[in-house]
Amino acid sequence: MSLLRIENAVKRYQSGSHLHSKTVLAVRGVSLHLEQGECLAIVGESGSGKSTLGRLAVGLEPPTEGRILFKEKELHAKRMDRGVRQALQMVYQNSFEATNPRFTARQVIEEPIWYFHLAPKSDWNARIDELLVRVGIPVEEAGKKTYEFSGGQLQRICIARALAASPELILLDEPLSSLDVSVQAQILNLLKKLKEEYSLTYMLISHDLEIVYNLADRLAVMYYGKVVEEIDTMDLFDALCHPYTTLLTGKDFAVNGQQDSEESREGCVYAARCAKATDYCRHTAPALVEIEPGHRIACHMFAQAEKSTSNEGDMS
Ligand SMILES: Nc1ncnc2c1ncn2[C@@H]1O[C@H](COP(=O)(O)OP(=O)(O)OP(=O)(O)O)[C@@H](O)[C@H]1O
Ligand SMILES: [Mg+2]
Repeated sequence: MSLLRIENAVKRYQSGSHLHSKTVLAVRGVSLHLEQGECLAIVGESGSGKSTLGRLAVGLEPPTEGRILFKEKELHAKRMDRGVRQALQMVYQNSFEATNPRFTARQVIEEPIWYFHLAPKSDWNARIDELLVRVGIPVEEAGKKTYEFSGGQLQRICIARALAASPELILLDEPLSSLDVSVQAQILNLLKKLKEEYSLTYMLISHDLEIVYNLADRLAVMYYGKVVEEIDTMDLFDALCHPYTTLLTGKDFAVNGQQDSEESREGCVYAARCAKATDYCRHTAPALVEIEPGHRIACHMFAQAEKSTSNEGDMS
């Protein structure tokens, strides 16, 4: 049983004024699963729909179409029960925005313990002290206000807040992007250590492939609301080959200078930018197909190659 399953999720937003409203398809039919104890990374450039998918996954918003299943039970964002809410926690990019500036570190961590009734009041302080130690914040500093901490320290406190809920899955939405490179490595190591200690499951959203390589067990690449490539083990990292992924990994810099346009989206979502796109790509959307065990790709170039090699196999 997967811990979480996203089935054909679509998220449509209506933006602009009443008269000039525009439909934005932030997520265009994504299916993914997360197994207990693993870290699934979602990568892609700004606007590709990563955070939207993350919000759907933890029930912060309902999908317009499709379903999200947590332990085989459908999530209903508007009426989630307390137990599920507790099991799904988040850590965001900007810890200053994610915390109340009037709160002390102790109050930040106390909130979920209080809200989810996780311990009798007499045990709160001991529980908070334990969490502070786990995330590397000296217990003596627990009385400081959130704005008195550095970004790295406050991110540790936000991680402690997520842990305080005794979660099963943590959505990490760009958890390191607002931190100094030197601090990034420390928080990355902390996240790795906690994942083992608490057997946590992570959904990691990032545009930094080095971070992803270090923390993730599996990887899905998103472009314009769709998954264009997926690997089930980081051992296949060097085999990533979608034209968009090779651009992200720096293996390829060739892009077509054309502007993205809505009309071009009837075929492959990446066709307008892809240097290798043909007319077929512009008019026919490729399905996500397996090209080797644990490696799926939505690109006609590879699906065709796979088709012809399997045909050869058939003929022999
Ligand atoms: N609440 C909303 N209302 C309208 N449009 C939205 C809303 N949330 C997201 N979008 C649009 O959906 C698309 C995907 O946004 P999303 O924030 O999921 O991307 P992202 O991959 O997380 O980007 P970034 O890397 O910049 O965080 C964007 O075009 C965005 O403008
Ligand atoms: Mg985002």
